Amino acid sequence: MATAPTTARLVDRYGRVARDLRVSVTDRCNLRCRYCMPAEGLPWLAKPEMLTDDELVRLVGIFVSLGVQQVRLTGGEPLLRRSLTDVVGRIAALSPRPRIAMTTNGIGLDRLAAPLAAAGLDRVNVSLDTIDPQEFADLTRRDRLKDVEAGLKAAHDAGLVPVKVNAVAMRGINDHSVADLLAWCLDRGYELRFIEQMPLDAQHGWDANTMIGADEIRASLSERFTITPLPESDRGSAPAERFLVDGGPATVGIIASVTAPFCGACDRTRLTADGQVRNCLFSQRETDLRAPMREGASDEELADLITGEMWRKAKGHGIGSADFVQPLRPMSAIGG
Ligand code: 5AD
Ligand code: SF4
Repeated sequence: MATAPTTARLVDRYGRVARDLRVSVTDRCNLRCRYCMPAEGLPWLAKPEMLTDDELVRLVGIFVSLGVQQVRLTGGEPLLRRSLTDVVGRIAALSPRPRIAMTTNGIGLDRLAAPLAAAGLDRVNVSLDTIDPQEFADLTRRDRLKDVEAGLKAAHDAGLVPVKVNAVAMRGINDHSVADLLAWCLDRGYELRFIEQMPLDAQHGWDANTMIGADEIRASLSERFTITPLPESDRGSAPAERFLVDGGPATVGIIASVTAPFCGACDRTRLTADGQVRNCLFSQRETDLRAPMREGASDEELADLITGEMWRKAKGHGIGSADFVQPLRPMSAIGG
């Protein structure tokens, strides 16, 4: 196992350093959010294509030895991986121990929040776009709002705080209820962040002209709340622009991934469920770690493959430019 001293080795040509690893632990999901998947789902990875727990933990250990300080478990829906609690425990045992977070849709979290916290999970982000049951069913194509609400409560009770809620607004579906969602989150002590919809859906339905931008979200929230920006200096490499709500201390975030990209401050790298390193959500290429690992590559050889891929990281995603091409993998197979 790689436990070398952690000099930052995940650098790119533009001087950015990756400290935050996002690991997709499965590409499957029990929802079908319209901004993500078609109604019929996707051709999921077969079991032999997926990293085993041993392989996944070994690779995460190598990333940690290269300077990664935070590991975020994502999907698809990460709670669908049956061994997740065990995986969290094994990542928490790495040295130095990374912070461990998870992005989930919340279904199943009512049962799993406490064991995951006990295993070493530090934080959760739960995706919830509306608290209107009809809108929820329309947007996710499943009637599971109650499960998500129970999951959020369990996360809060298990001390996975501050519980963050991620929301994407879609025109004609939940765009008129964003202030209701904020009021609901404020009541419960959840920290809400809106994310601009990105062109990452498997069915290529994204449209720049109908996307709801950060300014529009802010204007809708301002109809009911007083929203004042926090100083930029509080932001660091965090992508969300944060606002005080009604004078604070509660805040709301808006992540303007499309209209105000934060690529220049990006500190992320990604590992897919089938063992590919991606240096960006929008990358057109990836480096396979699974085959070399299964053929007996050493930790040092795998580390060289990872640093090589990071070096190739592009300056920005280029959404909106004439030569922008959507990545082959959809969001659900990359991880958020
Ligand atoms: N654009 C923006 N956010 C998205 N998510 C999923 N697909 C998209 C998209 N196309 C969100 C999910 C989740 C996180 C992983 O990213 O709702 O909160
Ligand atoms: Fe599932 Fe997340 Fe995609 Fe929704 S956005 S279908 S919860 S992977």
